[in-house]
Amino acid sequence: MATSAFKIREACKADIPALIQISINANRGRPLINALFPPHLKAGPGDPEESFFQESWYETGLQRENQHYPVVVNDKDEVLGYACWQSAPGPLEPEKTREERKAECPPTMDFDVWEFLRNAIKALQEHVKAVLGEDEFKRAWYLDVLAVDPAHQRKGIARMLMQWGEERAAREHKSIHLVSSPTGAKLYRALGYEQVGEMDLVGQPEAVFIKRPAQES
Ligand SMILES: CC(C)(COP(=O)(O)OP(=O)(O)OC[C@H]1O[C@@H](n2cnc3c(N)ncnc32)[C@H](O)[C@@H]1OP(=O)(O)O)[C@@H](O)C(=O)NCCC(=O)NCCS
Repeated sequence: MATSAFKIREACKADIPALIQISINANRGRPLINALFPPHLKAGPGDPEESFFQESWYETGLQRENQHYPVVVNDKDEVLGYACWQSAPGPLEPEKTREERKAECPPTMDFDVWEFLRNAIKALQEHVKAVLGEDEFKRAWYLDVLAVDPAHQRKGIARMLMQWGEERAAREHKSIHLVSSPTGAKLYRALGYEQVGEMDLVGQPEAVFIKRPAQES
């Protein structure tokens, strides 16, 4: 199917099951995902408890003003890929204790791996803050999620989802930052992003990329 057959629109609540399924299919087999949902917990993404956890996460996200979920659909309005862009830092939430975080963790997920990831992402964000400067970091757009149905990859869908956020960030003269999987890194390099860091996250190198706003002449 040619790229021109695809359309881009913003997600609504009815799209949530499709977003969850695309995330599961796109990320299947990633070492990070295998570590988060280990066999000894006898479950994995897509199991009812995990889906319930994800549904509430997306419902909250769709209601937040700083979070944007463009989806690429085919001519039957079936979702083939989506992104989650953050146009500003999220609302400040009270710091939760380890026990409170543990209570929110689905039983299918390895809490220690989840905590490790949380701290690693925080450290990477601190690094980006140092690179961009605190003010620019606070203003910047952040790409939180990008996933395309494996049956429809390499058709330009991720490019469309990236362009959606890039146009908006450019209009506001803001930088973009993101943490990338190895596959994603190929895309971001192709789109002109600059790699500014890398960290091993549970057996997989995750890279940090930024794109600064174009200089006005
Ligand atoms: C990464 C991902 C979103 C790319 O989606 P996509 O729709 O297939 O990407 P596009 O078709 O828009 O690709 C645009 C360009 O990116 C590069 N690219 C994308 N996927 C690539 C791959 N698997 N290998 C090499 N280059 C790739 C190419 O330069 C491509 O242009 P080309 O096809 O003309 O050569 C998709 O592979 C995916 O969902 N992966 C699993 C989840 C993930 O890793 N997400 C990124 C998290 S940061």
